[in-house]
Amino acid sequence: MIRGIDDLEVSGKVVFVRCDLNVPLENGQITDDGRIRASLATLTNLSSRGARVVVLAHLGRPDGKPDEKFSLAPAAIRLGELLGSEVVLAADVCGESAKETVSALTNGQIAMLENVRFDARETGDETGRKQLAKTWAALGDLYVSDGFGVVHRKQASVTDLASELPHAAGLLVKAEADVFAKVLQNPDRPYAVVLGGSKVSDKLKVMDNLISNVDRLLIGGGMCFTFLAAKGYSVGSSLLETDQVQNVKEILDRAKQLNVEIVLPVDIIVADAFAADANTKCVVAQDIPDGWMGLDIGPATIDLFEQNLSDAKTVIWNGPMGVFEMSAFASGTKAVALAMTKNSGMTVVGGGDSAAAIRLLGIDESKFSHISTGGGASLEFLEGKELPGLSVLEDN
Ligand code: 3PG
Repeated sequence: MIRGIDDLEVSGKVVFVRCDLNVPLENGQITDDGRIRASLATLTNLSSRGARVVVLAHLGRPDGKPDEKFSLAPAAIRLGELLGSEVVLAADVCGESAKETVSALTNGQIAMLENVRFDARETGDETGRKQLAKTWAALGDLYVSDGFGVVHRKQASVTDLASELPHAAGLLVKAEADVFAKVLQNPDRPYAVVLGGSKVSDKLKVMDNLISNVDRLLIGGGMCFTFLAAKGYSVGSSLLETDQVQNVKEILDRAKQLNVEIVLPVDIIVADAFAADANTKCVVAQDIPDGWMGLDIGPATIDLFEQNLSDAKTVIWNGPMGVFEMSAFASGTKAVALAMTKNSGMTVVGGGDSAAAIRLLGIDESKFSHISTGGGASLEFLEGKELPGLSVLEDN
């Protein structure tokens, strides 16, 4: 049993909230603030109930020491804009500035500490992690876990601090965990999973875990070429993981035994170079010519995928169907996303690239049942792994 924030008495208390504010930046500007917006519900709830909120978060993978280019400053500014009140950012993780910032908080105010990964102990061994967690715990009263994107990490601000303070799951973590539990344990059927992205090796464990439960597995993106190669087709110079061909053959065999339909592309948009202005053509999936690489699924595949998604009662999608960042190769990804928006069942988008694609392609986010904020975390959930940031919340 995991407590929610409504079970905590927060008024006047210093509440640490671990958020995932790991947003993409270009020249210091946030290019997708989805994760910041997803953190608002918990923060405003706690603030409106009189909590003194201290946000803990990371940005990128700095080397365990302060590094200006990984500062949370852009995230603190954006969060302040979205909240309509300034979010003070401490200059350090747990030093003098952090202490002053926490003790200056008034009821309902929200502040942030600098990138927790500026302290090597955040991602270090257990002794260091505990030490850092205890330093924070000495400054606060309660801990709320709301960074779903990091619940697969055993890190000081994710797992160790939860062990030091009375804790609860934030609204985002609770919503994400409920959705993934539902699709894993009790999906409405037909149940279709669409997998894409470049590497089949990244999705093997997900396929392994899901295959005994799904009705249809639709495969696109760079990873489909290893499937096509496993069927004996020529894939030209498309992305191919030759060391995975045998694993894919085994998946195809298992799917057959379990009566799971594996839906592979029937046509492919190929290009003569990996470039937005490359020459392109549409070819049958069985026969990609030498010197051409597949960069998107073709129109007949789009039709096939749309048919397979139209009557599904549960759809999970993880990984783009093509190189959606280049408009010439965005049609497949866009079509899958739009097919999901037309589906009245439960539609769940795994985080990372698929969530980014939806925003980049300007598709209405409100038309999906759930868009995860977790990239690695949502994959590990689908792999059936235990997520340390969730299990630590179980014992209160
Ligand atoms: C993510 O971007 O998936 C999360 O913020 C986790 O980041 P990490 O992979 O650097 O731990």
